[in-house]
Amino acid sequence: MLRSTSGLLLLAIAASHLLLAAAGAGCGPSGTLRPTQSHACQDCCKAGQAYPTYRCSPPVSSSTRAVMTLNDFDEGGDGGDPSECDGAFHRSSERVVALSTGWYSGGSRCGKNIRIRANGRSVLAKVVDECDTVNGCDREHAFQPPCRNNVVDASQAVWDALGITGEEVGEYNITWSDA
Ligand SMILES: *[C@@H]1O[C@H](CO)[C@@H](O)[C@H](O)[C@H]1NC(C)=O
Repeated sequence: MLRSTSGLLLLAIAASHLLLAAAGAGCGPSGTLRPTQSHACQDCCKAGQAYPTYRCSPPVSSSTRAVMTLNDFDEGGDGGDPSECDGAFHRSSERVVALSTGWYSGGSRCGKNIRIRANGRSVLAKVVDECDTVNGCDREHAFQPPCRNNVVDASQAVWDALGITGEEVGEYNITWSDA
């Protein structure tokens, strides 16, 4: 009786540690990308630099903290290939976002809205793409480094709706949730 109780207790402690580990800040880099070629474009990969890669993102809550960046999802834009979800390009007047690989979650949020809160405002934006945290520095990713694991890469229309000037600040702390 005593033995089984302490066994259960141990199990409970082990389970709570697992939960803590899953919910904690414990989403560290999974590797490093070291490109052999430099590319001259803005923010592009440089030979000899080490870029961390991630296979996870922080846990999603009703108020998930993230860094919003500006992306051009249109053909010839800095987004690279067509959007991962629908194989299409998107105009900057559409409210669309790409999420870091962990949050993209194998496409499970494709076509769904997330709610972004920033600057005292709130806007719905559709998930159309992945901000790849595992791969980068190649043509498919417009020679951009792998994404950080906490990025909501948003179109101009999203920035506009939030009343933030993307070109000036480059990135902006936001919170988001599933809508
Ligand atoms: C954005 O958030 C990060 C991490 O929480 C923090 O270190 C940084 O100071 C914040 N930046 C601004 C401009 O508030």
